[in-house]
Amino acid sequence: MHAFTIAAASFAALTSLVQAAPHAHSHRHAHGIATRDDSTFDLTVQNNCATSKTFGLYQVSSSFEMTEMTDPVAIESNSSSVIQASFSAIGMRLSGTADQGCDGQWAAQTLFEFGYSAYSDLTGTAYDLSVMEGVADGEGIAAYPATSECESKVCTTLGCSLAASWTSADQTSDGSPADTVCYQGKQNFKVVWCPQ
Ligand SMILES: *[C@@H]1O[C@H](CO)[C@@H](O)[C@H](O)[C@H]1NC(C)=O
Repeated sequence: MHAFTIAAASFAALTSLVQAAPHAHSHRHAHGIATRDDSTFDLTVQNNCATSKTFGLYQVSSSFEMTEMTDPVAIESNSSSVIQASFSAIGMRLSGTADQGCDGQWAAQTLFEFGYSAYSDLTGTAYDLSVMEGVADGEGIAAYPATSECESKVCTTLGCSLAASWTSADQTSDGSPADTVCYQGKQNFKVVWCPQ
């Protein structure tokens, strides 16, 4: 049941990212290609949860194929690490369950989802949070773009607004308010697990 809910919501998020990005590069990147050049941006991942977690980037294709894009990185409680992400990739997710590999990506979890978006002469990153039914208590998530021009999103243990996060696939009927695009070119993001 959870797998269906997540797949449906992820599909909704992916679809809207693609629609918002008519000029996006839609080819899939091979494992490990998008590192250390000027087409990457920094995701500073802060783990404020009580225990160590393992983070990684994954890409979901339109046919739901899951590809691991970075080597998993373990981050201790109250510590952070920088993961580089391809600016031009779409269908991307930052997961805190990378210790479980690609197969674990279909289980309930909290995610930062993102992808390249272009509109007219503007470019940027489309992003949302996803907090699916069945996620362990207390595991909120927050995303902060480096520029104050773009919206921060925060989900605590108290919950999420519809504009902050996907919590149900039904949100497409409300216009997918959780999906946001930061049209400020390439910007870094800070993503916090278990924000206070
Ligand atoms: C992490 O920080 C919180 C809040 O300051 C603290 O309560 C907790 O004990 C810390 N965890 C570890 C493993 O140091």
